[in-house]
Amino acid sequence: MTPSQSFLLTCALAHALLLPSALATSNAAYPPPYGLDQTLTSTTGATISAADDLVPVRREVYGGGRIIDISHQYHSEMPSWESDGGVGQLLWLPKSMKNGSLANNSEMKLPTHTGTHVDAPGHVFDHYFDAGFDVDTLDLEVLNGPALLVDVPRDQNITAKVMKSLNIPKGVKRVLFRTLNTDRGLMYNKAFDTSYVGFMKDGAQWLVDNTDVKLVGTDYLSVAAFDDLIPAHLVFLKSREIILVEGLKLDDVKAGIYSVHCLPLRLVGAEGSPIRCILIK
Ligand SMILES: *[C@@H]1O[C@H](CO)[C@@H](O)[C@H](O)[C@H]1NC(C)=O
Ligand SMILES: *[C@@H]1O[C@H](CO)[C@@H](O)[C@H](O)[C@H]1NC(C)=O
Ligand SMILES: *[C@@H]1O[C@H](CO)[C@@H](O)[C@H](O)[C@H]1NC(C)=O
Repeated sequence: MTPSQSFLLTCALAHALLLPSALATSNAAYPPPYGLDQTLTSTTGATISAADDLVPVRREVYGGGRIIDISHQYHSEMPSWESDGGVGQLLWLPKSMKNGSLANNSEMKLPTHTGTHVDAPGHVFDHYFDAGFDVDTLDLEVLNGPALLVDVPRDQNITAKVMKSLNIPKGVKRVLFRTLNTDRGLMYNKAFDTSYVGFMKDGAQWLVDNTDVKLVGTDYLSVAAFDDLIPAHLVFLKSREIILVEGLKLDDVKAGIYSVHCLPLRLVGAEGSPIRCILIK
């Protein structure tokens, strides 16, 4: 190999390794994803930094702020239910170009209730699970349409009293509840935190009895507070009319009315699914 050929090869290799470094591109309003370094160590152990010409743009808002991404990124250090160590590895690359495959083909494995996700009735009702009330049966009309983003008082869980104080007008079908969880940045912490804010059983019951809300969204891994975990889920999912979206990313969004769009994967037989949700102004 001539020196110039060797130089070219080095450049090509460096180029191939550059892609992931751009994962760390962040904007001031959002913390960078965890576990993703600004630089990448090459096969020779040398550290290479991002080149300006091959850096994908990673955004939280699109269309000049009109479209707001309210789903969290999926990565190994995101929180996982009752785990201190995060989700762990969720992507593998069984077919890789570096090993002679024609293309890169990743595989993923993760609990269906990871990150921003949806619960189907089969999650807490075994007979619904057996009957097939999985995420593929969820009503896309409930998951898409006008929605209200509200701030919940930061000093309590969502009780009946708190629900009443929110004065959610009749006719409102979709509500995203922003809580202390967002202020605490809990979805950015690897360790699961049982002290997150969620619905208490009486808060869930109040919503069912006194509002027309069919889409309930919250900002940590469960809509139900840890202390009322199953009871509050049972209240919400019993009628099979209410859909629960959990782990929403509600940072830096103004409270108010939006159009929400949430699309779960069509996982037949699964009582949960990762879900991509956006708000449109
Ligand atoms: C994946 O494919 C790209 C080209 O699209 C290649 O540069 C890269 O080395 C491949 N990654 C692995 C791990 O094989
Ligand atoms: C390529 O294959 C080897 C041997 O199976 C494995 O150790 C290595 O991790 C693979 N590399 C990639 C990038 O998939
Ligand atoms: C909410 O409830 C959890 C237990 O489920 C508790 O640890 C936490 O302190 C409560 N949060 C507030 C703000 O009261």
